[in-house]
Amino acid sequence: MLNFDDDVVTTPDQPAARPAAAPARGSSAPASAPTASHVADYHAQMNEQGTPVNDLAAQMRAHTGRVRAEDKRVINGGADVNQLVPFKYNWAWDKYLAGCANHWMPQEINMQRDIELWKRADGLTEDERLIIKRNLGFFVTADSLAANNIVLGTYRHITAPECRQYLLRQAFEEAIHTHAYQYIVQSLGLDEAEIFNAYNEIKCIRDKDDFLIPFIQTLTDPNFKTGTLEADQALLKSLIVFSCIMEGIFFYVGFVQILSLGRQNKMTGAAEQYQYILRDESMHCNFGIDLVNTIKMENPHLWTEDFKTEIKGLIKRGVELEYAYAEDTMPRGVLGLNAPMFKEYLRFIANRRCQQIGLDQLFEKAENPFPWMSEVMDLKKEKNFFETRVIEYQTGGALSWE
Ligand SMILES: [Fe+2]
Ligand SMILES: [Fe+2]
Repeated sequence: MLNFDDDVVTTPDQPAARPAAAPARGSSAPASAPTASHVADYHAQMNEQGTPVNDLAAQMRAHTGRVRAEDKRVINGGADVNQLVPFKYNWAWDKYLAGCANHWMPQEINMQRDIELWKRADGLTEDERLIIKRNLGFFVTADSLAANNIVLGTYRHITAPECRQYLLRQAFEEAIHTHAYQYIVQSLGLDEAEIFNAYNEIKCIRDKDDFLIPFIQTLTDPNFKTGTLEADQALLKSLIVFSCIMEGIFFYVGFVQILSLGRQNKMTGAAEQYQYILRDESMHCNFGIDLVNTIKMENPHLWTEDFKTEIKGLIKRGVELEYAYAEDTMPRGVLGLNAPMFKEYLRFIANRRCQQIGLDQLFEKAENPFPWMSEVMDLKKEKNFFETRVIEYQTGGALSWE
């Protein structure tokens, strides 16, 4: 392990200097700052190794003038991505601020009652236990997939810095969600290998992830570049799949199930965590929809009839996969819920997603059988919904000055 007393030795296979992320324009560079030739050497070396480079330094050199809001674009923009202001996409900045205002951490929530209930032989029925295990089995990896998709894919292709700022916040929230699911698994003493590997072992979970993987691969492929009709439609399609289907449909059977447990005073700690996650996810979904609609507005040629037909087909498939998940996780009625109720609910949500991105509704007369879900989504953090919060918890509580 390296410690602070060790000399730093640059080995021949390491670049001598890395490109600086974003030194302030006009500031005098320190003597050790990478020069333009260092940066060029670094890029040449990386390209020789076949590793594509996201050329931030070249972008900085190409933009020496001051940014004008009207030059910014969500994709294929020409303005400097390092200059957040002047703002053009205020909706993205507002969502970034709202995300920060909703900040929470899993350890804030007391899991003691959940632990006692889970360990008591007659605390929960087998069907209730199945719901919890399947839920965690899906979500423990789903949020890692979402985070990787943002960090390794989406972020690179979005050229509006306000949107990038939100994506950075969203990526951290996905990490918090993975942390929350891990915290529940650990608190209940579940078999970690079984839960974390569920996406390889449980068909209804695997099928949802298999559906998503081609769209993740599009965005994370290092050779994928926007700028053509085909590529820009592929990007838009992946963004719709993520916001409207993954975050907008695939999470909702699980959310209703765990929040229903909480409403019956069972697993209230887990339910409180899901409640915060649901609030975050509904903002991710809305941000994604705003992003999609802005790309559509700036690039109307992408929104062809064939493209719309394809998107509707994908949303229909998403509903089928989520319904299969509902059937698998609820072989019988449980908690006053049953799989057919979710058929109606998923159709209702799918119609809403279609409407949000300007498509005709897919299903006729679908009603919301769970109107209480919207109340949960709107809940403010200060309100102690299940009254399980640990009041004494403080952020950064591990620091000691003694
Ligand atoms: Fe998440
Ligand atoms: Fe999310």
